[in-house]
Amino acid sequence: MATANTPRKILVTSALPYANGSIHLGHLVEYIQTDIWVRYQKMQGNIVHYVCADDTHGTPIMLRAEKEGITPEALIDGVHKEHLADFSEFLVAFDNYHSTNAPENKELSESIYKKLKANGKIATKTIEQFYDPVKNMFLPDRFIKGECPKCHAKDQYGDSCEVCGATYNPTELINAYSAVSGAAPIRKETEHYFFKLSECEQFLKDWTRSGTLQGEAANKMGEWFENGLNDWDISRDAPYFGFEIPDAPGKYFYVWLDAPIGYMASFKNLCQAKGLDFDEYWSNDSKTELYHFIGKDILYFHALFWPATLEFSGHRKPTQIFAHGFLTVNGEKMSKSRGTFITARSYLDHVKNPEYLRYYYAAKINSTMEDIDLSLDDFVARVNSDLVGKYINIASRTAGFINKRFDGKLAPSVNNVVVNEIKLSAQTIAENYEIREYGKALREIMRLADAANGFVAEKAPWVIAKQAGQDAVLQQVCSDALEMFRLLTLYLKPVLPKLAENIEKFLNIASLSWNSVDSSLVQDHTINAYEHLITRIDPKLIETMTEANKENLQATAAPQAHSEQHHAAHQQNEANAEIAEAEYISIDDFTKVDLRIAKIVSAEHVEGAEKLLKLTLDIGEDKPRQVFAGIKSAYDPATLIGRLTVMVANLAPRKMKFGLSEGMVLAASDEQGGPFILSPDAGATLGMRVK
Ligand code: 2FM
Ligand code: ZN
Repeated sequence: MATANTPRKILVTSALPYANGSIHLGHLVEYIQTDIWVRYQKMQGNIVHYVCADDTHGTPIMLRAEKEGITPEALIDGVHKEHLADFSEFLVAFDNYHSTNAPENKELSESIYKKLKANGKIATKTIEQFYDPVKNMFLPDRFIKGECPKCHAKDQYGDSCEVCGATYNPTELINAYSAVSGAAPIRKETEHYFFKLSECEQFLKDWTRSGTLQGEAANKMGEWFENGLNDWDISRDAPYFGFEIPDAPGKYFYVWLDAPIGYMASFKNLCQAKGLDFDEYWSNDSKTELYHFIGKDILYFHALFWPATLEFSGHRKPTQIFAHGFLTVNGEKMSKSRGTFITARSYLDHVKNPEYLRYYYAAKINSTMEDIDLSLDDFVARVNSDLVGKYINIASRTAGFINKRFDGKLAPSVNNVVVNEIKLSAQTIAENYEIREYGKALREIMRLADAANGFVAEKAPWVIAKQAGQDAVLQQVCSDALEMFRLLTLYLKPVLPKLAENIEKFLNIASLSWNSVDSSLVQDHTINAYEHLITRIDPKLIETMTEANKENLQATAAPQAHSEQHHAAHQQNEANAEIAEAEYISIDDFTKVDLRIAKIVSAEHVEGAEKLLKLTLDIGEDKPRQVFAGIKSAYDPATLIGRLTVMVANLAPRKMKFGLSEGMVLAASDEQGGPFILSPDAGATLGMRVK
């Protein structure tokens, strides 16, 4: 804990988001978590620098730029603007938001690499890698696809199967192909640069024991040590968007080498702007504190590679690494088909107020690596009941009397039991913010809000207001309630900074800091007119938002490579490599289509229709289906009767000029020929599901 006269000097980071996709609600857990902590520390009077940047290098960004017909620099510039706008609208207040593709990062990456080399920690080794002979480039694991060696699902990534969850090497894939060109990859030798992590084991074991990690993270480290540490491949061959390795033409730093150095680079850039001392924060004997907030999927990089890189290049190590869990929405992984893969922008467009989400996340965040769930119904209920029903209610039921009856003037709040109780909780709430137990902090604050509401309800100022000669009592009750409101605002300020600012204006007070708990609203202090501070969330907004996100999926024309949360299994692989996933549908999307074996019971020409035949299809339901199929050019209706084919049984019925069409028959065609309707192999019977 800081004492009043010795502010702590703290450097804080959040993980650098990839510059190839939009910020979504999953990302925001971390930025909101960090921002709350930073704001709390600043309110305590500590000197805090919160830095971040876009993570801009690597194959996916290079390929996406190529696909869009722009340079990688133009791509990352655009994304930088978009990310920064999203963050600032969510009130995530970085002191600097930089880019890993910056001169500071190039210089630092080169100098760190040179120090590692001088310390004997760099080795070269010739390895064999997959190579795309059409595209003339080496392929990261995630850009090789093929059939899963375990369950034989087609089109699985080179490192793990999304159908059965198996992990394997790309060499094990059956009929592997390049996701870039479709060509069969060949094996090709290349010289790579390695960081000798295997030699850092003792250092890392000691560092792990020094209290830098959460319990669960330290256990994970234990597992990694047991499996033995492999040297870390830090180079990639051209073409690659990144920094070329000094004295190694055509070899580039792997994105994960220069990404964490991006923390330093962003800070260096801030030092230049603000005249801060870079070495004070990064030298080996630094007295300052350094905290990295990250997701649990990138623990491996931050708890192994990063401290070892720092140690063997003569820098300080992180004071602590704070890993959090993933976000689920309504208890499940975010999903584009369910409309729960929601971007920051989409939330802002529909729900608008970022503080609702900040509050809800804070209520769910604790110091562990457990996943947190955004239950959309609970979100609406919680925000409406806590923020509007409990907290704001205190002011909305009392401020009007002060404004109207006392010209805005307050009575001093002395010795009110509830005010005293609220003040007494300052330390507990502060401690919970400090240890990232925001949920506990908010539960305590809401308990106090209940006490304040109890006070208002018991005193019933609206009753006193009607009694003659009770003005002083009315003024006192309302002033006490507003003092309670001031204190609760102070406690909530790290979570709700904009609302707190508006309330500071309304209460006509200076910006609240943590020690404002020791002061009070004084006699004759004049508040401003009470204006509506916050509205209830309309549940319809949530519905529209999820609907809109479902539509986005269906209308996806230009795929965007989103960095969805990584699987732990991908940790050691090319974690950056997220192929434009919108080009694919998920298994969930596929299973939504109800495909059935259908028997054609009748087929006939349709008067006036050039292309259509009217089919009657039996799929084992009470009533056969009528379907109009565009197959007239290829089939004599009489030859179709009695045949089995495949139909989409759950397509919404469509009213056509000639009648209702209740499904669709599957047929193949291209410029050369067709349509050819599909038939199942012998043995299939009508009504069977096609999966
Ligand atoms: O996993 C990710 O999204 C990475 N872009 C995080 C990088 S954090 C840091 F090390 F740069
Ligand atoms: Zn599989």
